[in-house]
Amino acid sequence: MDAIEMLTNDHNKVRELFKKFNGGGGITGLVRRTVGSVSSREQQQALQGVCTELEVHTRIEEEVFYPAVTALGDQELGKQVKEALREHATVKQEVSRLQEARAGEPGVDERMADLERDVEHHASEEENEMFPRLEELMSEEERRQLATQMRALKQRRSGSKQAPSGSVGRKKPAPWRAKASGAARARANRQKAGHGRPKKRAQRGAKR
Ligand SMILES: [Fe+2]
Repeated sequence: MDAIEMLTNDHNKVRELFKKFNGGGGITGLVRRTVGSVSSREQQQALQGVCTELEVHTRIEEEVFYPAVTALGDQELGKQVKEALREHATVKQEVSRLQEARAGEPGVDERMADLERDVEHHASEEENEMFPRLEELMSEEERRQLATQMRALKQRRSGSKQAPSGSVGRKKPAPWRAKASGAARARANRQKAGHGRPKKRAQRGAKR
């Protein structure tokens, strides 16, 4: 699995948790919401899941993924990372407020709805703009290595003993942090000059 697939899976997992908070998808979810049969317990589990997933997701993006993307030296990707970081700041604030909340309390539904909207906006931008461009500029092998680094950080975050020791959190920078590869820079320069603009790709990952 490469970094793009891994992050898209994370996005889809969070989307599912929001759906669970809202009583599930489709007509069944609508009916459950309308008649108020979504229990506070179910909602609380989903709320905690959303907060935990987003905490880990924003951290692996900020500590591993975005630095690697920025290191490619592509102007468009650089702008997208800056925008993504601004969005993360908002999402993290919303998550920290929700972490202290209990499902069923006044205002929690609205706060979850705001968070869902902001996360969807952020995830869609990444999937439709950042990831397709990254696919053009970073080799599959580099994207796989990135996924390995992100997975290790995730495992460390969840306290798993399976985390490969020393693969993340080392002082030594990963190769792509230090310098984008010559081939990637050449591709970026060609595209800056107006040649070979990347084509839009269909959104990856599971359908929503
Ligand atoms: Fe993301």
